[in-house]
Amino acid sequence: MTDLVERVREVLPSVRRDLEGLVRIESVWADPDRQGEVHRSAQAVAELLAQAGFDDVRTVSDSGAPAVIARYPAPPGAPTVLLYAHHDVQPEGDHEQWVSPPFEPTERDGRLYGRGSADDKAGIATHLAAFRAHGGRPPVGVTVFVEGEEESGSPSLGRLLAAHRDTLAADVIVIADSDNWSTDIPALTVTLRGMADCVVEVATLDHGLHSGLWGGVIPDALSVLVRLLASLHDDEGNVAVAGLHEGTAAPVDYPPERVRTDSGLLEGVSEIGSGSVPQRLWAKPAITVIGIDTTPVAAASNTLIPRARAKISMRVAPGGDAAAHLDALEAHLRRHTPWGAQVDVTRGELGQPYAVTTTGPVYDAARSAFRQAWGTDPVEMGMGGSIPFIAEFAAAFPQAAILVTGVEDPATQAHSVNESLDLGVLERAAITEALFLTELA
Ligand code: BES
Ligand code: MN
Ligand code: MN
Repeated sequence: MTDLVERVREVLPSVRRDLEGLVRIESVWADPDRQGEVHRSAQAVAELLAQAGFDDVRTVSDSGAPAVIARYPAPPGAPTVLLYAHHDVQPEGDHEQWVSPPFEPTERDGRLYGRGSADDKAGIATHLAAFRAHGGRPPVGVTVFVEGEEESGSPSLGRLLAAHRDTLAADVIVIADSDNWSTDIPALTVTLRGMADCVVEVATLDHGLHSGLWGGVIPDALSVLVRLLASLHDDEGNVAVAGLHEGTAAPVDYPPERVRTDSGLLEGVSEIGSGSVPQRLWAKPAITVIGIDTTPVAAASNTLIPRARAKISMRVAPGGDAAAHLDALEAHLRRHTPWGAQVDVTRGELGQPYAVTTTGPVYDAARSAFRQAWGTDPVEMGMGGSIPFIAEFAAAFPQAAILVTGVEDPATQAHSVNESLDLGVLERAAITEALFLTELA
């Protein structure tokens, strides 16, 4: 057992170098100009897995981003574990706000900075470390599945699961793409919210008008849009759309001071919504406006804006149905558009929420591995973010036990500037996963 811990520590420097190599690849699938980079990162992942000792490594795709599948067959009588991560990353945002360049992995104070250093190239690193620590011969079957379009909502994942069903079939699925409670306390993610988004466009005119000649009589589309968007919350900041689902959060104490520290909320700005923090983050719906197209200020003239649109993103609490939530949102938007303005709703992505019950031998094995690696049991926490394909995995392999782990921590800043990985967390996560493979055997 302790030998295995030692072996993880031995392989970690090489895993760290490999992670840095992956971070240097700008695998932003959402950016059409960088899809070639996503092919390059799939190639790099495939090479790393082959070097680690998997002899069956393939890169697959179905009209979407390339995914990598590597297989190590189960010894007779042993179960098979599917280890998941994704090699695509979010766009890096404003380069000016990065302390070190986003695609140049840089260590500061025990953290490795760079886009994807945590979300989710560290998930790939964790799987590599666990497999290498076992000398490429773990006591269970291991299939590694590294997807390339998670950050775009995994549109072709369902087809990949169907096409490679037999290759991917497993008894246990480990999804290393979530958070830890802190850098000292691990977490098992037991619920994730789902999501649904849409673009709402309002129009009052088919051309702009002189705002002095017509202002006061003719409504401009931007004023219509902001009133409509304002109707999505009540004064307290609770979502005001009728018919949405609310569940009950995992019973975890989340100190309110943590909200301020972890989010970086500016002085004087208050939280929104009612109920405990876990309840609002994990078990209630949320609605955010994530983009608006209208006349930019620099181009503003005294003109009534004829047409404007916004993208709205909604999180769906576990127990709710994403499609039904989008229906409710769409109905709200049509009903609340003021002054008879024309409204058009384009429905976007849907992802179902997920909840798991962590009883049974597989979860006991996981808790035991966590205890040995971190010296403490994992917190069973919910998650406000979404990993929509988990529901698809669960549907494709209903017998499999699904574990949602991860290498992020509250300071990671996934999707934001200055994303980083705590290197101690990477080590403990790798040790946990290596031990877990042994415990399962
Ligand atoms: N790894 C995240 C999900 C996550 C975020 C888990 C924070 C734990 C903490 C995943 O990569 C992600 O960003 N998911 C997207 C899904 C979307 C793009 C379909 C999300 O939550 O917005
Ligand atoms: Mn992720
Ligand atoms: Mn992400």
